[in-house]
Amino acid sequence: MTEYRPKPAVIINFKAYREVERGGALNLAKICESVSLETGIAIYVCPPTVDLGLVSGSVSVPVLSQNVDPYASGSATGWVTPSMVKGCGAAGTLINHSEHKIPMSRIGECVELSKCSELMTVVCADNAHAAKQSAGFRPDFVAVEPPELIGGDTSVTVANPAIIEDTVEAVREVSGSVSVLCGAGVKTGEDVRAAMELGASGVLLASGVVKSKDPKAVLLDLVKYL
Ligand code: G3P
Repeated sequence: MTEYRPKPAVIINFKAYREVERGGALNLAKICESVSLETGIAIYVCPPTVDLGLVSGSVSVPVLSQNVDPYASGSATGWVTPSMVKGCGAAGTLINHSEHKIPMSRIGECVELSKCSELMTVVCADNAHAAKQSAGFRPDFVAVEPPELIGGDTSVTVANPAIIEDTVEAVREVSGSVSVLCGAGVKTGEDVRAAMELGASGVLLASGVVKSKDPKAVLLDLVKYL
């Protein structure tokens, strides 16, 4: 029997890089959209929260928030609720990114509230153990990213391929419906191909695209083996 593999996902986290300030997020989202339309590959974009509405209303690719907070609508001054993210037109959200950590119990609440708002969920984890625990909340994706490799020049697929295989195995023990992504230092089509060969269903990356002088060329290279 052929094993079920979901369509590969490439998620671009814009973070809070200077390149995406002052209109940069929308420009980059449009470049991602053009590559997605040209190649047929699902490219998801994660602009800064302040640009969620603008970007969601301007591009056809799925837009994800970089974060949601575990609050329902109401008295929650300054927090980002899943409901308001949905109202901006976003399709989903990252949760517990390495640069925006929250306790495990809060991760579950964020996933639950996001599901109630019909948001797709991508829970980030530092290692296979945390990925397995996070899979218990049944998000759509778990993304494993070793913090020490984030923003660096060596791809996780080269520096620590075992973490990807271990995560795929650990998550599969919990649920067959949670897909695994990997990230940290991913920059090229070879990195993406290696990730897929190690069992991942796609990649989550940032600096390789956002800080590039030619994001379109990087994106085309990233998806060339998918
Ligand atoms: O969210 C993506 C991330 O943390 C990896 O960043 O710059 O290593 O691709 P980067």
